[in-house]
Amino acid sequence: MALSDTDVADVVDSLSLDEKCSLVYGAVDPEGTATGYVPGVPRLDIPELRLADGPLGIRIPGRSSTAFPASIAVAATFDPELARRQGVAMAREAKASGQHAVLGPGLNLVRVPNCGRNFEYYSEDPVVTADFAAAVVEGIQSEDVLATPKHYVANNQETKRLVVSAEVGERALRELYLPGFEAAVEAGAGSVMTAYNRVNGTHMSDHRRLVTEVLKDEWGFDGYVVSDWFGTASAVGAATAGLDLEMPGISLEALHEAFGIDPDAEMLEEGDDESIPAGETTTPKFATELKSAVESGAVPADRLDDMVARILGQMARIGLLDGEWGDGGALDTPEHRDLAETLAARGTVLLKNDDGALPLSDDDDVALVGPGVAEAMLGGGGSSEVTPAREVSALEGIRTRTDGSVAFEPGVERVVTPSFFDDESADADADAAADFPGGKTPDVDAAADCAREADVAVVVVRDATTEGADRETLRLPGGQDELVAAVADAADRTVVVVQSGGPVALPWRDSVDAIVESWYPGQADGDALASVLYGDADPAGRLPVTFAPEGSYPTNAEERFPGVDDEARYDEGVFVGYRHFDAAGSDGEPTYPFGHGLSYATFEYGETEARGDDAVAVEVTNASDRDGREVVQAYVRPPTVAGVERPTRELAGYAAVELVADETETVELSLSEHAFRRYDDSEGWTVDAGEYVVEVGRSSRDVRAETTVSR
Ligand code: BGC
Repeated sequence: MALSDTDVADVVDSLSLDEKCSLVYGAVDPEGTATGYVPGVPRLDIPELRLADGPLGIRIPGRSSTAFPASIAVAATFDPELARRQGVAMAREAKASGQHAVLGPGLNLVRVPNCGRNFEYYSEDPVVTADFAAAVVEGIQSEDVLATPKHYVANNQETKRLVVSAEVGERALRELYLPGFEAAVEAGAGSVMTAYNRVNGTHMSDHRRLVTEVLKDEWGFDGYVVSDWFGTASAVGAATAGLDLEMPGISLEALHEAFGIDPDAEMLEEGDDESIPAGETTTPKFATELKSAVESGAVPADRLDDMVARILGQMARIGLLDGEWGDGGALDTPEHRDLAETLAARGTVLLKNDDGALPLSDDDDVALVGPGVAEAMLGGGGSSEVTPAREVSALEGIRTRTDGSVAFEPGVERVVTPSFFDDESADADADAAADFPGGKTPDVDAAADCAREADVAVVVVRDATTEGADRETLRLPGGQDELVAAVADAADRTVVVVQSGGPVALPWRDSVDAIVESWYPGQADGDALASVLYGDADPAGRLPVTFAPEGSYPTNAEERFPGVDDEARYDEGVFVGYRHFDAAGSDGEPTYPFGHGLSYATFEYGETEARGDDAVAVEVTNASDRDGREVVQAYVRPPTVAGVERPTRELAGYAAVELVADETETVELSLSEHAFRRYDDSEGWTVDAGEYVVEVGRSSRDVRAETTVSR
């Protein structure tokens, strides 16, 4: 029986001031497993609380766990049920390692294509973000583990992330940046992590309006708000703004020592080094200043009680206070392995497939080219790095699957993902210098020769992104573009597999036959890739972000990104992602639009009709001779209202349907109210009366049928 609120209040009453304070900031975990650790109060049998990093799996120093695909790949499945199952699996793995909270999901919107952490986030669209947020949070919390959606809010870039102020209007906050967090709260998240950055001049740790007024009062969030690591700007300011728990609560040096973080990793000093006044952000605040602030009345005593009650309340909720927590932990189970592979395969997006270049035939002789094909692409650098329980490289996956021959050439030097962690970066250096399989050396000509002799060349290219830094360019690093061009020149048929954390430039795209975007697929990389390349799985992924020429994104102005004088101006307002490209018309044609993704099957759409005001139905036929999976999408076009600028269309709903050859099914899509309403600075949420066109189709630019609904 979980303790009630009254029981928790009684526990709070029986704590001394020192004991209360000791519960609201972190300490070094004596076990060395937790990313964040609260010691508990032995006198009253209050146990320890352990928080472990996500969101791509559970990160425990020195231990392995299931390395799931990056969040952006998960969103590309357009299948929130899989995200819910991932949440369950991550929670079980957390439990197996004695961790009570997962530091995830990452819910920042993909505003800037260059952001180094896009791989940890879901989408440029708030409805997709909110759906996946709710699903994964529900999954995590269903196992009595606390989810920690992060980073609240407007943490959309890594450059100067500790100081930059997102200068963002209320409408964009409400329509784009907040819905994911609100959905996570509604789904029962036990905690929320504040962002490093400032919003309209105030650090998020100290942002009373967003933390107390919006998150707690307006949305009714009754869990605890935890700071990002070293992201507490002040003791009094943060406590009175509503921050409940400071992490890590120890000095940077102590943290580096405890967790083997590479002191040279630019975790905190990213961007311009002068942006961080030494000692100011990296020293604990609550540990040193909170007690005296409560004694002086600068922080009201009942605020401290509330902080403690919120933390204990969540510990009680998961059964930790009455010793009932801990059943059901499991690590690296067959179910988790399968899920990691299903997610990776289903999130794989077929961007282009000319003349049926894919799927490969079982007996095709393959030239497998690329510097990373002998290692699974696990993720980007930073706090989300997971040591995988097992890993399958593209080379292994394809060799296992094919009946033909597989010749391998790296083409260029390895592209190494930067790591935060000492041992792993040492490993990475060793990896970078290690021999390629078969003693191969990087040689573009050898790769082209190899491609010339095979039935098909499969070139696997990757970017290298990390927390703490943004990408300077959307071009792939390390001469890989030249490698693709050389192979495409030589080969009869060229398939390019892109493993990236977000949109990248594809300058060679007209000269290759097929392009597959597989993001950071995680430990199941090679198996998932082989299943899609050979057609065992239909490529069911769709783009949760727009791919466009680098200069055409709305953040392509210094004052918007990375900002000037520590301010990033969100002047594009709600015109982010496809909302921008639709409004830009022919000035901003996407390379591949939001929602795009091909299937090996061919789908035909019938008429669509409204089912009441909140749903539409459409008949979809698989008009091919192969089974396939279609992601049917619905976008809403609002009526024109004088003086109001609105996106041309907004995603309102989607549903995936598996159809065998020749099968027809009526697919019903429910329409999110989010796509109908707009936020008016003086009126708040507003739904304009009128006719809304609902477009149903395969992507934001491939409309197959239309109907209208009214409001
Ligand atoms: C990241 C968080 C992470 C925390 C703890 C910070 O650098 O921004 O996402 O949870 O570290 O590792």
